[in-house]
Amino acid sequence: MPNTVLIGAQWGDEGKGKIIDVLTEQVDWVVRFQGGNNAGHTVEIGPEKYVLHLLPSGILRAGKKCVIGNGVVVDPTALVEEVKGLLDRGVDLEGRFFLSDRAHLVFPWHGLIDTAREQAKKSGERIGTTKRGIGPAYGDKAARIGLRMGDLLDPDFDALFNALLQEKNAVLTAMGAPPLDADRVLAGCRQAGEFLQPFIVDTLPLLHGALARGEPVLFEGAQGAMLDIDYGTYPFVTSSSTTAGGACTGSGVPPHAIEHVLGVVKAYTTRVGEGPFPTELHDEAGRRIQEAGREFGATTGRPRRCGWFDAVVARHACMLNGIHAWALTKLDVLDAFESIQICVAYECDGRRLETVPANVRTLQRCRPVYEEVPGWQTSTAQATCFDELPAAAQAYVRRLEAVTGVPVSILSVGPRRESTMFLASHAAAESGTLSMP
Ligand code: IMP
Repeated sequence: MPNTVLIGAQWGDEGKGKIIDVLTEQVDWVVRFQGGNNAGHTVEIGPEKYVLHLLPSGILRAGKKCVIGNGVVVDPTALVEEVKGLLDRGVDLEGRFFLSDRAHLVFPWHGLIDTAREQAKKSGERIGTTKRGIGPAYGDKAARIGLRMGDLLDPDFDALFNALLQEKNAVLTAMGAPPLDADRVLAGCRQAGEFLQPFIVDTLPLLHGALARGEPVLFEGAQGAMLDIDYGTYPFVTSSSTTAGGACTGSGVPPHAIEHVLGVVKAYTTRVGEGPFPTELHDEAGRRIQEAGREFGATTGRPRRCGWFDAVVARHACMLNGIHAWALTKLDVLDAFESIQICVAYECDGRRLETVPANVRTLQRCRPVYEEVPGWQTSTAQATCFDELPAAAQAYVRRLEAVTGVPVSILSVGPRRESTMFLASHAAAESGTLSMP
């Protein structure tokens, strides 16, 4: 498999964890490059279900090497818990998990500030964050006051930590939150540092060695293009670069090392948290999607808002990422519908828009322009190849390719590894010889 970036092309929760798990069989390395434990990747293997927040999903495939890159923000206590959870379930991490010494740390005050900021906002202004401290941690990184994984092992860590906590306690007090106990937090950090020490390395030469030897690498995106700090529905976004470019800055590899970009989209759209969502359904259809798709957040358990597929959003993600092919997930969730809508454009203030406007207030006023297609009202869950799908389901997939200008190379009709089809376009997409539909 070529070096591939896999990214979410909607608002996250596209089913990336499962696709990554399936593709990991064909690579040697899997790399997380942005986000933190706001992510929740669910992987089902036989009767076992795993939810990963920080570790790359590739960790569940024996022998595969996994990297948490410099672009990730890491809550060390949460990572320890996750690592221990896997060790308890018999997953062997020896010699195959590497944590960048340049990855920034998420401390307890980040979560408290995140929560206090959200509480201080009026309804309608809240982002609906995961309250994991992601925004404040990236804020400190940009402000050049953050501490990094490597600092945890530095003899000066206590002094660096205490200076920072003094400032953060002043912030917390000003926000009406109780200050943190320095000794308790520091002890927790030291403990986590000791546990994580064997994994903390300079991942840059490691990854470049892999590239030089031609060992295939899969870069695992978290969240989705519409949550990107620059090109998402700002300010209702996360605080990292969720696009393919983020794979370079977040892991230290050059752009030409990336040979293939795979976008993951659901056959419909969901969003968790606040912010504009043009195709959101507030009716029975939305409830049916939510129920059939088990649309509840893997990290916070919040119900996800549900709506029809939005081709304007998908095309936006194509521009940002240079998507070669789609992995289309959860097609089976639409099995029972008599008819299905596809949003092909927006209408706003009497004008037709083909692209996502930058201004969030303009986007709030956008109404979807729908194209209706027939449903198939047959189960697709048992299909093992494209030809076994009902004709209307095949037509729906082909229509999504046409309105987005990108072919589907992987199709998923259920949560298990076996419910994954590789379409004829898969090999061509990977070798770069695929033409647009
Ligand atoms: P934060 O990343 O916790 O700051 O949250 C910012 C926005 O991104 C909120 O709307 C969250 O619900 C959303 N978000 C963050 N991580 C994920 C994810 O993994 N899946 C879906 N939405 C997410």
